[in-house]
Amino acid sequence: MSNEQTLRDVADERGVSLGAAIDPDTLRRNPSYWKTASSEFNLLTPENALKMGPLRPSRHTYDFRDADAVVEFGENHDATIRGHTLVWHNQKPDWFQAWEYTPEQLRAFLRDHIHTVVGRYHGRIDAWDVVNEAVADDGSMRRTVWSDALGEEYLADAFRWAREIDPDVDLYYNDYGADEVNEKSDAIYDLLERLLARDVPIDGVGLQLHALGDWPDPDSIAENVRRFQDLGLEVEITEMDVAYHRGEAPSNPLEVQAEYYRDVVDACLEAGCETIVTWGVGDGNSWLRGFKDFGERYTGDPLLFDDRYEPKPAYHAVKDTLQDQ
Ligand code: G3I
Repeated sequence: MSNEQTLRDVADERGVSLGAAIDPDTLRRNPSYWKTASSEFNLLTPENALKMGPLRPSRHTYDFRDADAVVEFGENHDATIRGHTLVWHNQKPDWFQAWEYTPEQLRAFLRDHIHTVVGRYHGRIDAWDVVNEAVADDGSMRRTVWSDALGEEYLADAFRWAREIDPDVDLYYNDYGADEVNEKSDAIYDLLERLLARDVPIDGVGLQLHALGDWPDPDSIAENVRRFQDLGLEVEITEMDVAYHRGEAPSNPLEVQAEYYRDVVDACLEAGCETIVTWGVGDGNSWLRGFKDFGERYTGDPLLFDDRYEPKPAYHAVKDTLQDQ
C-alpha cells in the first residue's frame, strides 16, 4: 500500500468512518485546516455550531449560517455528517437566564427546536446526538434546566420529537466518562435499557472518549461497546482526544499517545465499533487549549495533527491500524 494514501483513503478502503469536529471560522480563515479537514477525514461534525446557544440568538429566531457552512463543506467533500447536539445543559443561549418560562413553554420551545433543526438537515445529517450528558459522574440523573422543569421524561420526548420529523436519521445518546465499564456507563446502560423497553427511538450510544493518560482501558472500552451492542444499539466513539496530567506526561509523550490511539482503535474495530471521531483537527484547535483551568492541569496536544497540521505519530498509528486490521 502506498505511503501517499491519506488517513481518509485508508478509512474508506476499510469501511470505517474517521471523523473530526470542525470550527467554521477556522475553515474560512485557514487553508491548511481546510485542506486537512477535507482530505484526511470522511466524517465531520460541527464542534459548536449546532448547539442551542450558537443556533438561537433569540427565543423565536435561528441563525444557521455557521452550521450550514460546516454541513455544506462536508457535503462538498462527500463526508458523512454527525449532528451535535440538540439537548444539553451547557452552551444554552445567554438570554435563557432571563427567561421566566413555565414548563409548558419550555417543552414547546424544545419541541420546536428539535423539529426545526432536525427537519432542516433531513437527508444531510446521518446521525444526531439527541441528548448529551444527561447522567452525572456518580451515575445519578444530572439536574439541568431540562430535568428541573420537565422531569426525566424530556429524554423520551426529545428522541420522539427527532424521530417524528426524520424517520431515517440515527438518534444517539452521547456522554463522557462512560467509555469503559464503570459506575457511569452502568447507569447509562440502565437508562437506555429502560427507554428502549418503552419503545423510545434510540439507535445508538456515543462514547466521547476524552482520554487522560492510559485511561480508559481499551479492553474495558471493548467490553462496554459489546454490551451496548447487545442491547441492540450502535456504538460510536464521538469526541476522541488523548491528554496527560501536566507533570505526569511520559518523557516520550507523542509515542505513548500514538500507542494509546492504536490500542483504542484496535479494540474498537475488534468490537465492531467502526466510527471514531476526534474532537478537532490539529492540536491548536483543541478545546483543551481554550479551557484555562484545564490547560493548566493537562497537556494540550491531544489530536492526530500538530499545530501546523503536520501528522503526528498518533496519525500514523491510526492509519497503520486501519491498514493492518
Ligand atoms: O464563539 C464565542 C466567541 O464569540 C466569544 O467571543 C468567546 C469568548 O469566550 O467565546 C466563543 O465561544 C466559545 C466556543 O467554545 C467557541 O470557541 C465558548 O466560550 C466556549 O465555552 C466553547 O467551548 C466549547 C465547549 O464544548 C463548551 O462547553 C468547546 O469549543 C467544545 O469543544 C466543547 O465540546 C464539548 C462537547 O460539545 C461535549 N463533550 C465535551 C466537549 C469538550 O468540552
